[in-house]
Formats: sequence, C-alpha cells, structure tokens
Amino acid sequence: MKLCLATNNAHKVEELQALLGEKFQLQTLNEIGCFDDIPETADTFDGNSLQKAIYVWERFQIDCIADDSGLEVDALNGEPGVFSARYAGEHGNHAKNIEKLLQTLEGIENRAAQFRSVITLLIDGKPHFFEGIIRGKITHERHGEKGFGYDPIFVPEGYDRTFAEMTMEEKNPISHRGLAVAKMIEFLKQA
Ligand code: IMP
Repeated sequence: MKLCLATNNAHKVEELQALLGEKFQLQTLNEIGCFDDIPETADTFDGNSLQKAIYVWERFQIDCIADDSGLEVDALNGEPGVFSARYAGEHGNHAKNIEKLLQTLEGIENRAAQFRSVITLLIDGKPHFFEGIIRGKITHERHGEKGFGYDPIFVPEGYDRTFAEMTMEEKNPISHRGLAVAKMIEFLKQA
C-alpha cells in the first residue's frame, strides 16, 4: 500500500519505513510532487498533523500519514511543545534548541519531560488519530551522536542512556513515534 508521509525529513522516513515494513511503501512529499512548505499553524500536535494531512489530500488525493511531535518539559508547563523545532528561533537548528533548553533548565531540579507524537492517517479523506508518549528526563549535558533533535539530552524512563546513544532498533520500539505507529499499524491490520 502506497502512503505519502507528509515530510521531507529523511530521518523520519527511514525510522517510519523500518517500523512499517515492506507492506507499505512510503513516499515523501517531493516524491508525490509536493514542494510546498506546508503550513503548521495550529497550537496542538493533533491540529498540526491534521492540517498537514488535509493539505496533501486536498491537492493530491493521496492517502497520507502526517505526524507532529515534540518535547514537553514538565517544569516548563509543556514547553517547547509545538515550538520544539524552532525553540531557539531558527527552524530545525537542533544544536541551538538544545543549548536554549539546557540554559532554561539551569538550576531546575525537576527534569521530567516527555516526547509526544500524534499521527493523522487520512484515508479517503477520513482522519484517524494515533498518539504515542514516552516519559523521561532531560540530562544536564549532551550525550551521544545518533538520532536528531533533542535526542542527545533525553533519557527515557527505565534507561540510563540518551536516545542519541541508542541504535534505531533500540529507540524505535519505545519512542513516542514508535508507539503511535504501533497503534496505527494495529488499526491498519484491522481495516
Ligand atoms: P516534528 O514537528 O514532528 O518534525 O518535530 C518537531 C521537533 O520536535 C523536531 O524538530 C525535534 O526538535 C523534536 N522531536 C520530535 N521527535 C523527536 C525525536 O524522536 N527525537 C528528538 N527530537 C524530536
């Protein structure tokens, strides 16, 4: 089954394709001919993922998976949340985002946080939502080189290594996206 994954983030496609298996062939936005900068102007993960999926469906009539995810820090009332990618101002500057978060959390004891992901699966124009959450802690400094985003400063509950110190095989089954995808796969199997 062909599905557009509403992103051009190579990391995400790789992660998700590994989770989905061969039964599904993911196509990126560029592969379906979409070169637009799809708006993400909602203030929730649900809203943003739905907005992206509808954008693709309306223009390309292709079944679509769109996700939105981010880091929610307890002591910051859920920030950076939907602003995770541009927390330090510049979209996708992970190093600066990490730096800003570590500075903001300086002197704060409560390091609890979670990654949350919401997937919208739009089939024949009908939306289905799947959510995944992984709880953990923000470290005091960066550890590890793998992954992306806030991976070097997030240690999932029950582990003593950051996501950036884990292989994709370790991270995928426990990650927020992995959990949301697992729910979506369960749904697709029953469809
Ligand atoms: P997106 O909107 O799903 O692309 O995610 C927004 C931002 O959340 C990313 O740019 C990252 O900063 C952060 N993020 C989401 N998922 C992860 C993850 O698995 N590891 C690290 N950072 C993540």
